[in-house]
Amino acid sequence: MIIGVCKEAARNEKRVALTPEVSQKLIAMGLKVTVESGAGLSSSYTDSDYLAAGAIVEKNRMSVIKTCDLLLAVQAPIQEAIDSLKPGAILVSFIWPLQNKEYVEHLKKKKITSLAMDTIPRISRAQSMDALSSMSNIAGYKAALIGAGTLDKYMPMMMTAAGTIPPARVLVLGAGVAGLQAIATAKRLGAIVEAFDVRPVVKEQVESLGAKFVEVPLEEENTETKGGYAKELSDRNKERQREVIHQHVKKSDIVITTALIPGRPAPLLVTKAMVDDMNPGSVVVDIAAEQGGNCELTKPGETNIHNGVLVVGPLNLPSSLAHHASKLYAKNILSLLNLLIEDGKPNLNFEDEIIVNATITHDGDVISPFVLENN
Ligand code: NAI
Repeated sequence: MIIGVCKEAARNEKRVALTPEVSQKLIAMGLKVTVESGAGLSSSYTDSDYLAAGAIVEKNRMSVIKTCDLLLAVQAPIQEAIDSLKPGAILVSFIWPLQNKEYVEHLKKKKITSLAMDTIPRISRAQSMDALSSMSNIAGYKAALIGAGTLDKYMPMMMTAAGTIPPARVLVLGAGVAGLQAIATAKRLGAIVEAFDVRPVVKEQVESLGAKFVEVPLEEENTETKGGYAKELSDRNKERQREVIHQHVKKSDIVITTALIPGRPAPLLVTKAMVDDMNPGSVVVDIAAEQGGNCELTKPGETNIHNGVLVVGPLNLPSSLAHHASKLYAKNILSLLNLLIEDGKPNLNFEDEIIVNATITHDGDVISPFVLENN
């Protein structure tokens, strides 16, 4: 069985799906690994690292795609690449099937067996394959660093001969995987940190990191789905949340927003009126920018200045830490392949909750119950 890895096609994507370290492990499992020359360069893995690991380095991208049995990628490969795969070949990458319905139709038509890293269920047994968490963790870390690097103030308290500087105040909205890492990073940099999330279970996690949980007295309703994700709030609760959050936003030096609701646009948490009340020089880092943003003033991929407040809408933060993002992603893939491959051959066991949910298409059909139920 030949595993193929190409340089990512998307602009500004610096990650690679497979590292030399994981290539070596796959080769030890009896598989062959073929990597396009230069595929790892933007994440600081050289062709000679792959060669030393026992992989084949191939100059011609198309021949990697045409000859492999299993193509690994970070972002879903372009449709032309799919067209060149062998019939029955397997693809493993992020696919986001609910957002990319046309792409899924194409995979069906081409009879590609595709597994999405983003639909692996978030159960304990799948933790080592959870690429959503490894990438969100990076995004949260980077968001805190962007905030600190953009702010024209110190983060920690400074007692100097020239006077005492108070610590910066950071507010994190949305305390899932990314938010919790943003809190931890801002705390390490010495800031005073507050956070809010609609899921009540998060309070304890926020406090265990040394941050203060902002209490919003929400009425009624269960704010969490069975799967542990947030639900969209009612209009009345949204209003209550905004009233309380406004008071905290206006006294913050940095506001980091990370709130997402699966399958919906990012909820609006920080309005223009709130930004109007922030001090000049303050910063909003909105890492929900890709899903439309949590701040009314966010422009995805840009930093804009509103009354002296910098509103940053970064895109694809995991790519900005490409070396470690690739290392973690490749480890996530290895865990999945350990389950998928038996005696050097793919074994699509649809009785297995992980395999069945991750398999988007197989033999011309959509398989994943996650996709079938949410379509
Ligand atoms: P996410 O990226 O979908 O959302 C980020 C955060 O935004 C969530 O904490 C959500 O509650 C919050 N949010 C949504 N609407 C909001 C609003 N209006 N105001 C404030 N916050 C709002 O979530 P993520 O980080 O992917 O993880 C969500 C959950 O998934 C985890 O807390 C956990 O329950 C589960 N999970 C389970 C894992 C496992 O068991 N292996 C691993 C990772 C996550």
